[in-house]
Amino acid sequence: MSVAFRGNIARMVAYQPGEQPQEGGYVKLNTNENPYPPSPLVRRAVLAELTDSLRLYPDPGATRLRRQAAIAYGFDLSQVIAGNGSDDLLAMIARAFIGEKDALCCPVPTYSLYETLVRIQGGRVLGIPYPDDYTLPPRIFRSRASVTMVASPNSPSGTTVPFPVLSRLADSVPGLLVVDEAYADFAEENALSLARERKNVIVLRTLSKSFSLAGMRIGVGFAHPRIIEGLNKVKDSYNMNRLGIAAGEAALKDIAWMERNAARIRKTRDRLASALPGAGFTPYPSQANFILAKRGGGKSAKPVYEELKKRKILVRYFPTPRLSGCLRITVGTDAEIDALLTALRTSSPRRGSSSRR
Ligand SMILES: Cc1ncc(COP(=O)(O)O)c(C=O)c1O
Repeated sequence: MSVAFRGNIARMVAYQPGEQPQEGGYVKLNTNENPYPPSPLVRRAVLAELTDSLRLYPDPGATRLRRQAAIAYGFDLSQVIAGNGSDDLLAMIARAFIGEKDALCCPVPTYSLYETLVRIQGGRVLGIPYPDDYTLPPRIFRSRASVTMVASPNSPSGTTVPFPVLSRLADSVPGLLVVDEAYADFAEENALSLARERKNVIVLRTLSKSFSLAGMRIGVGFAHPRIIEGLNKVKDSYNMNRLGIAAGEAALKDIAWMERNAARIRKTRDRLASALPGAGFTPYPSQANFILAKRGGGKSAKPVYEELKKRKILVRYFPTPRLSGCLRITVGTDAEIDALLTALRTSSPRRGSSSRR
């Protein structure tokens, strides 16, 4: 007897999330988590949930969380969907809009989960390379894909697409425009108003980064009620658990807490950007809670990544032709960034032999 996967599943490679070491002791600057704790309201809300109610299924519509998101961002409840992280919302979008004949168009390099989700559907990815300055490639305006996806700020570059450009893109795409704003709270502008005004735009947010809740898995999406209705048809019935719903609602009641932490992170980010050239790296201009930094002299960043790891500092290294000269560094606390800079300035690949590989 043989077990046969669908051809596209057999051919695809699994998505590789960033390393999550299960032992402590690392300065963890590899998956863009927030170094500061979530609002104290979250702890209280989660503890209040730890009652007999855990026996019972959660609200399939995550209404408390969606209502608070609607209030916080100025939407009607019918314009909001909640997910088990924004990854869950991305999966719903792929399920709802990408079939075997469909394509998703996105500028690349970007968040590589998009490609995985499209492959699961058996669809095609039209990746249009960003130019060196990470401005939106003009070809994307001519794409005929069912879904156009733009992360702004983008990962791994940290760069943003200006609002007027996204607005023009919404006018020119033939299908759905997804603006993935996982890092928007660290940026100077956002595209939420497009989700209010256009019928073909969905804006995704996550509570993993600015709200310090990566461990709870909470994402929210904002769009025209017709899009939300369609996504509801394909979502897992109980896609959020009781603790996530309570934590998300509480966090969104304390926007001021999130904003204070985001402001601290932006300050540290600017300090890191100024210090990187002294450590042999050129930063791309970032509006996120991480910086993509390119090693000088066209050298591979892999030996630096490895040396940092030996010193218990984790950053993200992408072994692709476009990114192999770069490290993506999450903005941690000031002390964590000091430790990173000291390690970079004293690491052996920097001082020693040529490390081109
Ligand atoms: C651009 C982008 N979108 C979405 C996500 C997923 O976030 P979540 O934790 O809400 O699933 C990430 C996570 O790293 C990301 O970088």
